[in-house]
Amino acid sequence: MIELRNVSFEYTDFRGEKKELLKEISFKIEENERVVLLGINGSGKSTLLKILDALLFPQTGSYLYNGTEIKKKSFKKISRTFRKEVAFLMQDPNMLLFNATVQEEIEFGLRQFGFDAVEDRAVEIAKRFGLEKYLDTPPFYLSGGEKQRVALAALIAVEPKILLMDEPSANLDPPTTGWLIDLLSDMEITTLISTHNLSLASEFGDRALVLSHQHRLIFDGAIDQFIGNQELMMQANLLHKHKHRHGSIEHAHFHLHDWE
Ligand SMILES: Nc1ncnc2c1ncn2[C@@H]1O[C@H](COP(=O)(O)OP(=O)(O)O)[C@@H](O)[C@H]1O
Ligand SMILES: [Mg+2]
Repeated sequence: MIELRNVSFEYTDFRGEKKELLKEISFKIEENERVVLLGINGSGKSTLLKILDALLFPQTGSYLYNGTEIKKKSFKKISRTFRKEVAFLMQDPNMLLFNATVQEEIEFGLRQFGFDAVEDRAVEIAKRFGLEKYLDTPPFYLSGGEKQRVALAALIAVEPKILLMDEPSANLDPPTTGWLIDLLSDMEITTLISTHNLSLASEFGDRALVLSHQHRLIFDGAIDQFIGNQELMMQANLLHKHKHRHGSIEHAHFHLHDWE
């Protein structure tokens, strides 16, 4: 479904210095896979998700969606199908909300993609997302977690094939995170979810892609296997060795940290 071949991405900062954000990244994701993207802050997770959503384009290497190369020049030709099938829940839901009411927000995509019974569908999905009482409310008035639910409802309404989510648990309280995990597990959809919360990772998927601080893909495989590998965890800056002092006795041992 999704394939990256040797993708690198760099940007030029305000000093004119080039900085690589992704280095020679290759992987494939097949339909209905549940994949988690792990990496500390600054490792390139959001950049990778933006490439997969065709908001950014690889500078070297290639990105194939169902066998078609996603290129800036030719993107217009496939953008309608691509935008319908690939949904991206950005980390900041404010980026996705621009309509006057929650109902209009959910209806927007449905209209754009030519669905019938738009109003009924919007109400139905609002119910599923616990948003019924907010249908007439401007998204602007909602809390961060509620905004995120509205943004997700609007994305799910158009029945995408793949859902990319950038640190969805960052805005959510524990019950809502539990609700999200249940919602996703009941859906037939491919997901790639970035998180720096290792304890949540295995709730969101069974396969992990891990980016190192040096912007390379250092692991692609079963999450359990990654968590069991001390060397890789250290490479991903997840495991630290600390010195301790207990009275006059000093010793050092490994600590597992949640992602910063
Ligand atoms: N266009 C850009 N201009 C300047 N800095 C950027 C740009 N895109 C990303 N960065 C920086 O690159 C680093 C990695 O980006 P990001 O993909 O957001 O990592 P992550 O999502 O893993 O935290 C961050 O430190 C970010 O500030
Ligand atoms: Mg990010």
